[in-house]
Amino acid sequence: MKLSAPQIRARKRRDGSAPLAMITAYDAPGARFVAAAGADVLLVGDSLANVVLGQENTLGVSVTMMSHHVRAVVAARPDVHVVADMPWMSYHVGVNDAVRNAAQLIRAGADSVKLEGGRVRRDVVRAILDAEIPVMGHLGLTPQSVMSMGGFKVQGKTRRAAEELGLDAKVLQDEGVFALVIEGVPPVVGARLTEALEIPTIGIGAGPDTDGQVLVFHDLLGLTDRPPAKFVRPYAQLAPVITDALRHFVDDVRTGSFPGPEESYPNPEELLP
Ligand code: KIV
Repeated sequence: MKLSAPQIRARKRRDGSAPLAMITAYDAPGARFVAAAGADVLLVGDSLANVVLGQENTLGVSVTMMSHHVRAVVAARPDVHVVADMPWMSYHVGVNDAVRNAAQLIRAGADSVKLEGGRVRRDVVRAILDAEIPVMGHLGLTPQSVMSMGGFKVQGKTRRAAEELGLDAKVLQDEGVFALVIEGVPPVVGARLTEALEIPTIGIGAGPDTDGQVLVFHDLLGLTDRPPAKFVRPYAQLAPVITDALRHFVDDVRTGSFPGPEESYPNPEELLP
């Protein structure tokens, strides 16, 4: 059953709810798999840049590119809430611009949008919510801040930094975000933020105590060419399986064993000698 943003908002673990499971997807086959697995939320993440487009960071993705992939995902009619990431520079230039870009993702088929940052994005979050578009927050290791963070580094490692994250989280909650992704923080920070908030937190590299967990499709399935990050549990190793199948095809073509009679249409009688 597809959850609405308010239904996700109500999934606080301490109220007895099961933890939320969120998985990314970027195309129709991926969306079908995620829905069939029974995930609560499907995220069309801007990790699109890394795992699909082969880029080093997420900064190269535009709203047009994200919309294209949201359309591909919803074309599969997945029975799951679809969140679309707002890419870098789609909500940094001005509030009106941000609302228009969020609307573009909704018109492409998303049920809500996600954006990175805390107090500095307060006005943008409020404006998008005022346009009746549900917003998911994202704090901690926010990949769109890779340059200002000086790399992909665990955040919230000092008392001060952890307190700052707490202030950001409270502001996002007060504005009305329906859930909050917390990425790349020590487990104790993930636990404290979760305890301090009434909205559900969804962790990635934030320890076991958040109200939900998210992983990237390609990481979860062992489809990437890089060693996985510390927080990834690869539930399958599909890369060698795929390479092996493709190699078999290449070999069969070269040896002439493909196609055989089973893969060929019957010859009409009158054309035979
Ligand atoms: O883009 C993405 O996949 C994300 C997740 C890592 C939360 O934002």
